[in-house]
Amino acid sequence: MNQPVRIGSVLLKNRLVLAPMAGLTDMPFRILCARGGAGLVCSEMVSSNALHHQDKKSFRLLRTDPEEHPVAIQIFGADPANLAEAAHLAEKAGADIIDINCGCPVPKITKTGAGMALMKNESLFEKCIDSVIRSVRIPVTVKMRVGLLKQKKLSLHFAKIAETLGVNALFIHARYGEDGRKGPADLETLAETVSSVRIPVFGNGGIKTAEDVSTYVQRTGCAGVMIGQAAIGNPRIFSEIILNKPSENTPESLRDKFNQIRTHAMMNVAHYGEKLGILRIRKFIPGYLRSSPYAVVMRKQLYSVCTLDLFNAILSDFEQKMTS
Ligand SMILES: Cc1cc2nc3c(=O)[nH]c(=O)nc-3n(C[C@H](O)[C@H](O)[C@H](O)COP(=O)(O)O)c2cc1C
Repeated sequence: MNQPVRIGSVLLKNRLVLAPMAGLTDMPFRILCARGGAGLVCSEMVSSNALHHQDKKSFRLLRTDPEEHPVAIQIFGADPANLAEAAHLAEKAGADIIDINCGCPVPKITKTGAGMALMKNESLFEKCIDSVIRSVRIPVTVKMRVGLLKQKKLSLHFAKIAETLGVNALFIHARYGEDGRKGPADLETLAETVSSVRIPVFGNGGIKTAEDVSTYVQRTGCAGVMIGQAAIGNPRIFSEIILNKPSENTPESLRDKFNQIRTHAMMNVAHYGEKLGILRIRKFIPGYLRSSPYAVVMRKQLYSVCTLDLFNAILSDFEQKMTS
């Protein structure tokens, strides 16, 4: 996994990619994951229709920072012209790669024909991808599922279409759409898909450890992997996997964990302002406190404050209790 890999013209220093996660893979967290060893980080999905209608919040999601490169901006939609416009805007905003979301199962998205619904409509899938590829000079990737329903494998067919259109790499979530973000990964179908195309395929779904990565690579031949939920509250998971050195529970590593939370909070406050920055870090707290005996009480206290000073005071209090 520590070998470089190319996605079109973009060279990744290793084969571990941070998955796009709405509400989570914002700029501060992507920077932390880039520092934590990710070979590529991916933004949360950005609505191409919202960008077309000049939505300010969506424009903010396109912002990138020099420290996080290479970065993929993921866009979603089902209107080829709007997707092309969004891809062009993302390229101008500093994206190294455009990723097209063809795997999101959330009804709010699929009922508009976007996300995973594109895997039900071959001609629209083709038009959307072709339109994006024609609108940018940077590489284009597609994130898809192995299929929507367990009885029906779709990724072989759609991967070939994507490759023929000129897509540079695929991110394949090996769970079926009906299983959402839990449930088993179908590594057999992923393996068949990997061997049916020549472009790099990154496997995704349930990866938490270096052993999980080895299983994916050995059983599917994938070029790399994408990690989502296991990175929440552990942006260093990428280097831990590369070094095969999982985080420990020593006082020293606990102190380091507290420092990571402080840094994340500070970056959030710089990016969003104090109130929103502290509010938005709440989603990461359960991840950071995973396996801590104080998790419940600490979470309750941290969720009750809106200023950085109070947030840090609670952290210091618990840090002292847990490390002395
Ligand atoms: C909170 C959350 C938000 C997500 N948002 C997106 C998204 O915006 N775009 C996307 O393609 N996938 C999204 N996903 C799916 C992840 O990218 C990934 O495919 C999935 O979590 C499986 O990987 P994992 O088992 O490593 O978490 C999201 C997942 C989670 C947990």
